[in-house]
Amino acid sequence: MKTILVTGGAGYIGSHTLVELYNSGYNAVVVDNLVNSNKESLHRVEQITGAKIPFYEIDVRDSKALCDVLDKHQIDACIHFAGLKAVGESVEMPLEYYQNNMVSTFTLIEQLMNHNCKNIIFSSSATVYGNPEIIPITEECPKGKCTNPYGQTKSMLEEVLMDVQKADTAWNVVLLRYFNPIGAHPSGLIGENPNGIPNNLMPYITQVAVGKRPELGVFGNDYPTPDGTGVRDYIHVVDLARGHVAALKALSRNCGLSIYNMGTGNGYSVLQMIDAFTRVNGILVPYSIKPRRAGDIATCYCNPAKAKAELGWEAEYGIEEMVRDSWNWQRSNPEGYTTE
Ligand code: NAD
Ligand code: UFG
Repeated sequence: MKTILVTGGAGYIGSHTLVELYNSGYNAVVVDNLVNSNKESLHRVEQITGAKIPFYEIDVRDSKALCDVLDKHQIDACIHFAGLKAVGESVEMPLEYYQNNMVSTFTLIEQLMNHNCKNIIFSSSATVYGNPEIIPITEECPKGKCTNPYGQTKSMLEEVLMDVQKADTAWNVVLLRYFNPIGAHPSGLIGENPNGIPNNLMPYITQVAVGKRPELGVFGNDYPTPDGTGVRDYIHVVDLARGHVAALKALSRNCGLSIYNMGTGNGYSVLQMIDAFTRVNGILVPYSIKPRRAGDIATCYCNPAKAKAELGWEAEYGIEEMVRDSWNWQRSNPEGYTTE
């Protein structure tokens, strides 16, 4: 397995995964319509790796354009990151989310099949567990009720991919359920580049730290957790990227269908995250307690043992490296990727 099609490769997790792919001797072909990214991220990946990465600015829903890319390159496997991902926006624009995430994945599966490539890694999410029945969450934990269209697309696409694999066992499908990716490449050259007001905790913290926003709102301090604030399993994006490289090895072993949690197994509260950021980076993050955010759950962290046992992968970075590298990226790029 040598050449990997990376959909959504200009995005946050995709760009970090490109670095790890090249570090491990793979080549990539990137397709992305740049709806939530900037091609400067790919230039930065090229700077880090020294590689020249073929890039096609296309929409994955564009069957003809995708076909042309697959005619041109012999692809061994696909890592499918492309998709819209903002939970709140998905509630306001459900059709756009269903249309984009579902149709792009259907088109991709069809075109991969037409080009005789039946190996795919799909970006799923801990959101498919809903309000989890088991903590720490194992892959056996039943899927739960998703509270928003974004989560629904992840859950439904898991089912679609499972059915495709069941109908044709030549397919190898790895579903990776990400917990909360944060951090950035230690070079500070690539990182998370949210549009507008960040939805997620860490980019909000770094924007307060850099002076772009006055204070952080902590969404609720009355949850049944040790300090009352929400607990999550934060994972360094470089570890997550390496998880994809490990999953490629499973594909080459003809794994059939495999599902893995991608987390560290450690839960941190919002207040612990603020404290870690301040302690490691020496910057105060002003905050105030706000009401709970609709749809949030109290606690979400995983048991990552299956990925360790079967993929030989486990997260290596701790919370200190995560907050350090998040800040390093933000302070080196206060406006994100500004050049084309
Ligand atoms: P991102 O928005 O940075 O990257 C997604 C990329 O896909 C973007 O570059 C965007 O331009 C591209 N894209 C979207 N629709 C497209 C289409 N129709 N055709 C071509 N390109 C398209 O997001 P990310 O954080 O890197 O997430 C990558 C994947 O992981 C997504 O599928 C996301 O849902 C999933 N995921 C992310 C998180 C997280 O917290 N970041 C958690 C769980 C799952
Ligand atoms: N939080 C705040 N203030 C903020 C932002 C977040 O207090 O400004 C809190 C949230 O209430 C939560 C924690 O910080 O307790 C983490 O929130 P994030 O928005 O960073 O992450 P979520 O766990 O809510 O969401 C993430 C992904 C989603 C995915 C979900 C479920 O962003 O895509 O995990 O796995 F659906």
